[in-house]
Amino acid sequence: MKIFVDTAQIEEIRKVKEWGILDGITTNPTLLSKTGKPWKEAAMEILKEVSDKPVSLEVIATDFEGMVKEAKELAKMGDNVVIKIPFTVEGTKAIKALVSEGIKVNVTLVFSPLQALIAAKAGATYVSPFIGRLDDISHDGISMLEEIIQIYDVYGFETEIIAASIRHVDHVRRCALLGVDIATIPFKVIQQMFKHPLTDIGLTKFLEDAKKANISII
Ligand code: G3P
Repeated sequence: MKIFVDTAQIEEIRKVKEWGILDGITTNPTLLSKTGKPWKEAAMEILKEVSDKPVSLEVIATDFEGMVKEAKELAKMGDNVVIKIPFTVEGTKAIKALVSEGIKVNVTLVFSPLQALIAAKAGATYVSPFIGRLDDISHDGISMLEEIIQIYDVYGFETEIIAASIRHVDHVRRCALLGVDIATIPFKVIQQMFKHPLTDIGLTKFLEDAKKANISII
């Protein structure tokens, strides 16, 4: 499972990159607004930091022509730019147009298997089902994901699934068990994935015993 970081904060991106587990970045207007920087400056900083991995940047136009125009501008910002298009009828037309010009598209705001089916048929590079936001309204985000995986497997769609709106480590565990292609995870949740109290207790004991036994390797 590839790990994307769902953030526009450059410090968070740098840390995950240092840890050696970064496969890509997803942003949206909300995440970019939280940086407090002009959006273009924040986006360019990210594209420079992870120039060899996909970085999703979202359009804000909602009509076909506007989305295509904005997507082409965003695509000029770097070879690794992936255009995030909201799942709508106009967005679906834009997916087809952009993909036919070699521009990679990540279809966002997907909340049902049928929306994911349409996105794949339109040729989307990635589809982003929102797990947490479905859970928030007492639906089951993971079940939606399971059905999308099943449909894509049955028909052999090449669209990669990015599990998005991940809220906690159990979401990540369940995504991994389902074999999802990618999970885009908030920085805080990635930090939590490292944690287990028995690891900390075990390490303390090993270090105490190393001292007792006068073990000094170098
Ligand atoms: O990047 C889109 C998605 O992951 C947003 O998540 O937490 O705002 O529902 P959230």
